[in-house]
Amino acid sequence: MNASDPQWRDEWTLGDSFIPAARYTSAAFFALEMERFWPRVWQIAGRQDELREAGDFLEYRIGAQSILVVRTTGGALKAFHNVCRHRGRRLASGCGHFEGRSIRCPYHGWSWNLEGENVHVFHADEFDAKSLHPDQLHLVECQVDTWGGFVWINLDPQAPPLHETIGPATRHLDPAALDRMSVLWHKQVRLPVNWKAALDAFVESYHVPAVHPEYPELGTDITQFVYHDDGGGHSHYGIPLSAGKDAPENPDVDPRELFHRYVSYTIDEIGAMYTEKDRRLTERLRTLPLPEGSNIGAEYTKALYAYAEQAGIDLPAPTPEDFEHLGGNFVFPHFFTLPTLGNALAYRARPIDSKLTLWDVWSLTILPKGEADRPPAPQAVDWRNASEVGHVLHQDFANLAEVGSGMQSQGFEGLRINRRQEIGILAIHREIDRYLGAPRD
Ligand code: FES
Ligand SMILES: [Fe+2]
Repeated sequence: MNASDPQWRDEWTLGDSFIPAARYTSAAFFALEMERFWPRVWQIAGRQDELREAGDFLEYRIGAQSILVVRTTGGALKAFHNVCRHRGRRLASGCGHFEGRSIRCPYHGWSWNLEGENVHVFHADEFDAKSLHPDQLHLVECQVDTWGGFVWINLDPQAPPLHETIGPATRHLDPAALDRMSVLWHKQVRLPVNWKAALDAFVESYHVPAVHPEYPELGTDITQFVYHDDGGGHSHYGIPLSAGKDAPENPDVDPRELFHRYVSYTIDEIGAMYTEKDRRLTERLRTLPLPEGSNIGAEYTKALYAYAEQAGIDLPAPTPEDFEHLGGNFVFPHFFTLPTLGNALAYRARPIDSKLTLWDVWSLTILPKGEADRPPAPQAVDWRNASEVGHVLHQDFANLAEVGSGMQSQGFEGLRINRRQEIGILAIHREIDRYLGAPRD
């Protein structure tokens, strides 16, 4: 206990390179996150494409809270607490369309327009007029905004604007043009691990040689990654332009062949970051001589732009400097993405309880013009099933299940943080502490 804040326990105090296990395992810490943290942070409610027409809605749940995001008649987005102001029924669930542009409570039929104004109270004349004041009947609004093709909500009406909050991360990420992408597929798994531990496994590549031994063989050299703490809990890693010069080459495999294998493996075992067109392009490049002074990455980029041009794919054009920062990108509090040219793998983490995480995986791509459509519904899959989640994510998820279990061990006191490759983990905790009101020394 702490004298100035009876809910704070000293055993949760962060070290410089040590994170107490209780921050992942304590029910009291989790309760504090649900009370002081989640209701105040910007979080991703869904994809903008899910809300194309007036009346389209999606529901986002976090803990006991449920939010409806609605495309209004005027074409704007609004977010409301998903609860009837009569007797507290949920108004809608999942995603769909409000017929007749009317949000109608299924219990007694009270109705609202898409702006959240009450338009009907059944037998209104039988109520005390005082309890039907329009202010009391308007659906309770939350903040809503968009970035990267995602709809973001914040339950806190006082929270600073989204773009201010995520700016330190989106500055690097904007050149990837996530907002132009469509959802190829969307899967959800329930991971038996604390939500922060799940994210920890993606904000670093330190685990790659042990958990994904195939990737070092396919040319991924984790020593090249440079990690950046962007402030505000955001972090990213990438490969500086200078790194390629003295990169170790695998003398046994031609770089053109290695790159094709890497792209093929990623398509087959993740199903994101590259698509079949990339497989075909890299396959063809295997047989073409590399021009003097060029490399396989540059030749692939050239071939990809030529293909995109004739296919009507509006690829982004990041500068070489942008490229240095488009490795793995974490947007606080719960979004991580690995973009490539025109594609991305993206994750969102959400706690179900302190030991269980709802984990979304999106495969995103820029489709040829005119082909974009409503995203497919999320598919609930079992992390234990490698054929459903792909070999690579199965490696991560199986590992995380063991972390979830291991963290409960009496023999585990906390995380010992690598000060270069694991700084993103500390950054998350430091920002959470700001919301929890952790005492500062
Ligand atoms: S609870 Fe919604 S109309 Fe009664
Ligand atoms: Fe991994």
